[in-house]
Amino acid sequence: MNDQETQLTTLRETIRTSDYHYYVLNQPSISDFDYDQLLLKLTAMEKAWPNFASSDSPSQRFGSDQSSDFAEVKHTIPVLSLDKAYSVAEILTWVKRSSASLKAKSLAQDFSCILEEKIDGLSIVLYYEQGQLVRGVTRGNGEQGNDVSANVRTIREVPLRLSRPISGAFRGEVYLSKPDFQRLNSQQELSYANPRNLAGGTLRRIKSSEVAKVPLRIFIYEGFYQEAPQTHQLMLEDLKQLGFKTNPSTAVFSLPRQAEQLADEIKQRAAGRGHLDYEIDGLVFKINELELREPLGYTEHHPRWALAYKFDNPQGQSSLLAIDIQVGRSGRITPVARIEPVLVGGATIQNVTLHNQDYINALDLGIGDSIVVSRRGDVIPAIESVSEKKSSAAWQIPELCPSCASKLHKQGAHHFCLNFACPQRSLGRLIFFAGRDQMDIDGLGSESMQFLWQQGFVRDIPDLYTFDYQQLDAFAGWGQKKIVKLQNSLESSKQQSFARVLVSLGLSDLGPRMARLLINAGFLSMQSLFDLADRGQSSQLSSLHGLGEVTAQTLLDQLKEQRLRDMVARLRDCGLCFEQALAELASETLAAHGDPPLAFSGQTWCATGTFENFKPRSLALELIVKHGGTASEDLNKTVSHLLLGEKAGSKLAKAQAWDIAIVTESEFLKLVFEAGLSLDLSQA
Ligand code: IVH
Repeated sequence: MNDQETQLTTLRETIRTSDYHYYVLNQPSISDFDYDQLLLKLTAMEKAWPNFASSDSPSQRFGSDQSSDFAEVKHTIPVLSLDKAYSVAEILTWVKRSSASLKAKSLAQDFSCILEEKIDGLSIVLYYEQGQLVRGVTRGNGEQGNDVSANVRTIREVPLRLSRPISGAFRGEVYLSKPDFQRLNSQQELSYANPRNLAGGTLRRIKSSEVAKVPLRIFIYEGFYQEAPQTHQLMLEDLKQLGFKTNPSTAVFSLPRQAEQLADEIKQRAAGRGHLDYEIDGLVFKINELELREPLGYTEHHPRWALAYKFDNPQGQSSLLAIDIQVGRSGRITPVARIEPVLVGGATIQNVTLHNQDYINALDLGIGDSIVVSRRGDVIPAIESVSEKKSSAAWQIPELCPSCASKLHKQGAHHFCLNFACPQRSLGRLIFFAGRDQMDIDGLGSESMQFLWQQGFVRDIPDLYTFDYQQLDAFAGWGQKKIVKLQNSLESSKQQSFARVLVSLGLSDLGPRMARLLINAGFLSMQSLFDLADRGQSSQLSSLHGLGEVTAQTLLDQLKEQRLRDMVARLRDCGLCFEQALAELASETLAAHGDPPLAFSGQTWCATGTFENFKPRSLALELIVKHGGTASEDLNKTVSHLLLGEKAGSKLAKAQAWDIAIVTESEFLKLVFEAGLSLDLSQA
């Protein structure tokens, strides 16, 4: 090293040390004035001796005027997010579940969890090689994010070089303090709603010299590197040693012994968050012993060894304008609340399903009431409570069907219209028949169907194939192109398999899974099913695996009906397929020849405890069965998934012991939502 280089190295090291004292330890070692002098000197020297420029020099903090393009880069670690909880009960369930899971795997019974603040900022991953910062990448979709290295280097609290020459990835949150936000926001033309948005806007500025002017900060909370310590608490210590800024505001709880104390801690922290210098939107609980994390495992999106407690379940205030009734094709009545539109968690909500009368009674909900609206599991709109009662009593489902005026009957938790010819039910059957998962008739969505139906052109399913669509030419919005397209898709729907046609008829309990079951059991034509019904042998059906006596009988009763037989005869004349082609059966591709994949196929679910959104819980199981799964009353070894509600009994421990996947209500809701399944149970 020549003299110039030595001088530069020493000066950089001095600045680095004072940075560390100032930013990480919060204990300045020199005055601001002296520090500024050192920086000036460094800039002058680097200008004079450009050969010795270095990417980890503190001068990098000034940024540059060059434009960054924020190239997309792949993360080398999975950048997962956290599962969320909104109540202490959910946290306690998580503790119980973790404990049971560790027990089932014969792992430590005494473990601890560490509580951290959930910083409301931007998630970032810092990559180091041999102790040098090589890249700063936004979280992105968890697999790849944007390279914002130039901007990250300007953040004083990000070490450009670590105290040991290690390689690894480090996760943290970039944020702005509340006072800095107040000050900067008042100077900006465009004001930001909160520190997070301003920090986010800053981190995406094209010129890093602009970013350097904003005092962004960072807390590092996870490290992925060789020889990391044994607990998260020790790792935070080590991260600090390495030069990272960590958040000291943590607490450790021995579990399950101190589980009771969590509630108090949460309460205190929620109350005290206003006094913090930065925004937090919740708390994070993590299993402290790092060796226990892998055994607890991961779902696709988040680790099971951590859980975020969110302070605010996003909620909005609204009022109940009206309750409409939907009559499903099965006759089930679903009340739907029409509310004053309200923005909750980024989406406008106007309609909220109210499920059934019990649900409405529990809320004591009436027209005109002021209500609190939320999105359960962050997605599904729900009315949480009545905030101001303006009506005199809870709204009641009327006695007569709003569509056909026949008397409604209560069966279980639901009301039903039992009139098969009820107009709304017929329309429901038509819409179902043409739907994407059934006959998949392109161009015949619910709106067009409603039009055909209201005009009286189509009353029953076979009419779809006999109506002269050229008549539509006279109506607004129906050009030749649209008509021909519809005719073509009707024509090609005649190629749909027997399995699909069978399901599309809309018999109750006859979903894709049941159709496959019947065909695989040798019922290769509609006629063979009619013959079976005529013989009245329900035992022949109920002996099939996964089909109960009641379901078998229900099916046979429907198959006996003349109405169905007439419809099938008409549809057969139109060219629809009512026989399973043997060639296709032989190749055992029933699932592959165009039937949609089912969300729950191959799975057997059991439910335990009580649920907020599924009252009774059989509603959840119905949904599972509807989408290809099997439901089981008791927890036996054929069960693959346990749906876990509040106040779960002994089933939880048993499921843990048998390694059955455990799914909470909010996880289930997310699953349902992500699979694009309709939660409108009246369509079941
Ligand atoms: S741990 C696998 N700890 O919250 C580890 N995240 O919804 C997952 N966050 O993307 C992250 N403070 O951006 C963790 N103390 C903290 C956190 C924290 C804020 C953010 C982070 C993450 C999001 C999860």
